[in-house]
Amino acid sequence: MSDSVPPVTEPSASGEPSANQKPSANREQWSSRLVFVLAATGSAVGLGNIWKFPYITGEFGGGAFVLIYLICIASIGIPIMMAEIMLGRRGRQDPVTTMKRLAKESGHSRAWGLLGWMGVIAGFLILSYYSVIAGWAMAYVPQMASGTFTGLDAQAVNTVFSTLVGSPETLIAWHSLFLIMTMTVVARGVRGGLEKAVTYLMPMLFVLLVILIFYAMGTGHFAVGLSYLFNPDFSKITTEGVLSAMGHAFFTLSLGMGAIMVYGSYLPDNTSIAKAAFAVAFMDTLVALLAGMIIFPIVFANSLEPGAGPGLIFKTLPLAFGQMNYGTFFGTLFFILLVFAAWTSSISLIEPAITWSMKTFQISRIKASVISGILVWLMGLLTVFSFNITSDFTISSIISTRYGEFVILKDATAFDFLDYLTSNIMLPLGGLMIAIYAGWLMKKDYSRDELEISRFWYAIWSILVRYVAPVMVIIVFLNAMGVVAFVRSIMSA
Ligand code: TRP
Repeated sequence: MSDSVPPVTEPSASGEPSANQKPSANREQWSSRLVFVLAATGSAVGLGNIWKFPYITGEFGGGAFVLIYLICIASIGIPIMMAEIMLGRRGRQDPVTTMKRLAKESGHSRAWGLLGWMGVIAGFLILSYYSVIAGWAMAYVPQMASGTFTGLDAQAVNTVFSTLVGSPETLIAWHSLFLIMTMTVVARGVRGGLEKAVTYLMPMLFVLLVILIFYAMGTGHFAVGLSYLFNPDFSKITTEGVLSAMGHAFFTLSLGMGAIMVYGSYLPDNTSIAKAAFAVAFMDTLVALLAGMIIFPIVFANSLEPGAGPGLIFKTLPLAFGQMNYGTFFGTLFFILLVFAAWTSSISLIEPAITWSMKTFQISRIKASVISGILVWLMGLLTVFSFNITSDFTISSIISTRYGEFVILKDATAFDFLDYLTSNIMLPLGGLMIAIYAGWLMKKDYSRDELEISRFWYAIWSILVRYVAPVMVIIVFLNAMGVVAFVRSIMSA
């Protein structure tokens, strides 16, 4: 990535505490928009793109799910991302304080602070399982490097994966290591190292994905894979699929919980929020689609099951690396880069909780990091065990009405439940509140001032954030609760 912008390693005002609060990261600023875009891309691109997107696409049947996901990115994700960055830059605090302060500024209730609160909790819950999955990726690094997968067939690769997730001790060890890595960076203040990691490692990850695309083209099933991804078959989509596509749009862009708000709070005043949001969304979507275009040809070439669940990339990619030239090298590098991508994301998941707890309890960044790290670690055990000891302990929740059955959750383990609760409920709810606040309650002068876009684009953004995004989120929610089918059946009666 070439940059013509000033040196980007240090935020311009770092180490300059503000007058009215403890020295904290809040007043630091990114040195340019490029740095913000890099950091936000680092947050956005992660396990969500490479691990989660392919497996949920497989679970929900392919093309139709992908199309809905893309529509959600464009019509909900990008406008809400602009709103979230904008609120962050105007508030320049942790999400809770930002929301309270903005609400006060425009004469609304301090209860808006609850939005920040929900974000702090969502980030916390997401990190608890994110760290466990990142641990899987870490566990694959030595496996790859030692050539375990060379020449293995699908069956044997499956066994390697099942052995890994079947061992709570191993999972706990990697989960611990990943969290220590994350909390170390967080404890030292977010920027600096992070920026460098994103500048060099992200492009490398991208190059590796392109290499894998060439491999996928050689499997003889590339066209089948593409058609699975891009040929929508709406008969396959369920209400849960629609909800998940929307939830994933929030998850993958890191929206709805204050992460992007915190990053936006470091954004210098004179940079274009719209361009930054577009750039981040574009790169994020590109990486996800590339991942899908790699995974599905491998799936079909080896007669695997697209709906294999969270293990999908761990069962497919090793097959590719096991067969290709220099596969040991590329495979090792790939999983290292995946861990890095997860790392830059996990930092942003916990950052809202850190800035908030530092301020609320008047504790140092280090103390806040240690305490949060321990709590996240404990919470993560739920996910660890849901793949082995407690894998049979599941819950389902089904609403049956005269008009049909609405499956909200089916055979969900603790991990499934946490994922569902955060991605499908908390993030869209947070996003909805952000859209309503930015679109309806914030004074137009403020938002126009912050966004600095032409009248035309401001009008478009306004429509999206006031009407389109909130209405879509609400309809998808109502749909998932069975209300839409209920109304439809009444109308046709
Ligand atoms: N977007 C990241 C991914 O796709 C995960 C993530 C980081 C996230 N920060 C977030 C998700 C904040 C929701 C909210 O892997």
